[in-house]
Amino acid sequence: MRKGILTIAAVGLLTTGGLTACSDDSGDNAAAEKTPKIGVILPDSKSSARWETADRRFLEEAFKAAGVQYDIQNAQNDKTAFQTIADQMITGGVTALMIVNLDSGTGKAVLDKAKSQGVATIDYDRLTLGGSAQYYVSFDNETVGKLQGEGLSKCLTEKGAKNPVVAYLNGSPTDNNATLFKAGYDSVLKPKFDAKEYIKGPEDAVPAWDNAQAATIFEQQLTKANGKIDGVLAANDGLGNAAISILKKNKLNGKVPVTGQDASTEGLQNILAGDQCMTVYKAVREEAKAASDLAIALAKGEKKDTGQTVKDGDRDVPSVLLTPKAITKETVKDVIADGYVTKEEVCTAAYAKFCAEAGIS
Ligand code: BGC
Repeated sequence: MRKGILTIAAVGLLTTGGLTACSDDSGDNAAAEKTPKIGVILPDSKSSARWETADRRFLEEAFKAAGVQYDIQNAQNDKTAFQTIADQMITGGVTALMIVNLDSGTGKAVLDKAKSQGVATIDYDRLTLGGSAQYYVSFDNETVGKLQGEGLSKCLTEKGAKNPVVAYLNGSPTDNNATLFKAGYDSVLKPKFDAKEYIKGPEDAVPAWDNAQAATIFEQQLTKANGKIDGVLAANDGLGNAAISILKKNKLNGKVPVTGQDASTEGLQNILAGDQCMTVYKAVREEAKAASDLAIALAKGEKKDTGQTVKDGDRDVPSVLLTPKAITKETVKDVIADGYVTKEEVCTAAYAKFCAEAGIS
């Protein structure tokens, strides 16, 4: 079994060269005889609502549609629990393990162990640096950041801001995605700072994307900037909402544009109310489906050519990178039409008026 998986892993790397073969021609069919059972470890349920409300739902939908066994668990931001869950899943006979790492160190330990036990591995949403996952399925995360930078810039222009002070609330320093998001928004905003068109305000990374901590951090930023922050690049809706809560306390909400990501119910409501400038919608249904397809193929001993790779050091990781979309007040309805959130969730009594204004009927 071990030999079989190593063979698949090696061929998996070769497929990046353009092979499109879809069956195991390695001569070792051990994997092909396995009944697929897929284990998924989600990171937490607080850094973003998406993990429980979208990822769990759409992964279940994909696994059920494919008729495969699955086990989806949440590590609740506990690295020890993350490793324990992985051990239990491996012992429990999963054929593929999909992880959203809490950091690259523990992620790598889990992936390496799975690999050594002949379990196929996928980095779901977050790339594990120095890891050994056979595939990486995510969105184009630099583009996510670019959309945030462009969105903020557009909102600042609409507000007629002159030389605005822009503060940053970056994502978790241990999340490779946070690095990519920042690279994206820096590519838009740094030239403006350099040209003195915008003024760089305080910048902090929020450990583990902790929303509560983000509010404290933003309050300190606002104090440090003597109350003069004209725009906030917040890396996701949770961090954005934290900034908005402090802006509200200071009667600045609606005047200071704030960005976000994830098209969460809360983020969409903040946009409709005029307190948030934009969010980035990532169609998690597609992400879950792509990852599920790959996990099932791996479990059957098949290999798929994803058509693209992502560099992790010297390693080319076969990847699926989906396209994110910027959402503003005018397009909140698109997220609802896509079935990501419902009108009932977004348009509660307090937001009904804003929903009507935005053409959500
Ligand atoms: C995900 C975001 C999410 C954040 C916090 C990132 O890795 O790509 O969608 O908001 O983690 O959970």
